[in-house]
Amino acid sequence: MPALHQAGDHLTAPTSKDADLRDHTGVRNAIRESRPDWVILSAAYTDVDGCESHRELAFAVNFQGAINVTEAARDAGARLLFVSTDYVFDGNKRLPYETGDLRNPTGVYGETKARAEEKLLEILPEVCIARTSWLFGHGGKCFPATILKLASTRPGLSVVNDQRGSPTFTRDLASAIVQLCHASARGIVHVTNSGDCTWYDFATEIVRESGLATTVKPVTTAEFPRPAKRPAYSVLSAESLHAYDIRMPAWQDALRRYLQSPPVAQP
Ligand SMILES: NC(=O)c1ccc[n+]([C@@H]2O[C@H](COP(=O)([O-])OP(=O)(O)OC[C@H]3O[C@@H](n4cnc5c(N)ncnc54)[C@H](OP(=O)(O)O)[C@@H]3O)[C@@H](O)[C@H]2O)c1
Repeated sequence: MPALHQAGDHLTAPTSKDADLRDHTGVRNAIRESRPDWVILSAAYTDVDGCESHRELAFAVNFQGAINVTEAARDAGARLLFVSTDYVFDGNKRLPYETGDLRNPTGVYGETKARAEEKLLEILPEVCIARTSWLFGHGGKCFPATILKLASTRPGLSVVNDQRGSPTFTRDLASAIVQLCHASARGIVHVTNSGDCTWYDFATEIVRESGLATTVKPVTTAEFPRPAKRPAYSVLSAESLHAYDIRMPAWQDALRRYLQSPPVAQP
């Protein structure tokens, strides 16, 4: 997380091999050994469709795993920031979701995160829950990378135009997380790039910014059924973030920076 180093903080980033979230003792040892001021729990089982067919694994990692980390952080006297998701909402609203809106996930992945949020607030009331959405960035699979790959081999792409959310650059999320830790934030905070769009709008902007000739065709979710139901609308209100005086750049600006920037080497 380069944002942390810029702020002069020291980061220890255990991988799943160092500490599997499901391994209560391993997690406890990893946290105790690094004696952190803050634990940032971003690891999760994030395969939204996979969660539908692997419900037990999804709960073991995203719910019980999060509990393991929270109890270990509490016992080590550390603060905890838990990265959560817009998928805790059902998507029936047409105005940005506020932090206090009812959780009503439409799939198993969202359910694991929603139940974890509730439990973490019980175990560690000072936890900070940073809900984000539609992440893209270097070092892994993401929507812009997929679109660019497909666009290089196909003359046209079909992309769903009836799911609306806020694409968020992982670097901007990291920067906001660092600021939240420095502000000693607690409770639920919504952290996304500003503005919103559909996946079709997002794909169109990726193709346009990259100067590609590929055509992008809008289609409906019904035309591309997936195992997990996604919220049709999951825009998150920035009011909770503004309360900490943190402003996020527009998603179009974030996309431009992603397309122009080389990946940063992992520490
Ligand atoms: N992607 C999105 O659009 C999005 C939207 C909203 C919220 N979020 C949240 O943001 C966070 C990051 O998401 P992402 O999409 O960037 O994740 P990702 O690329 O799928 O990476 C997940 C990470 O979690 C680790 N992990 C998985 N199972 C683990 C286990 N049992 N023990 C320890 N580590 C484990 C993985 O390690 P290995 O690779 O070694 O397995 C990987 O490093 C997650 O909490 C997710 O719920 C994501």
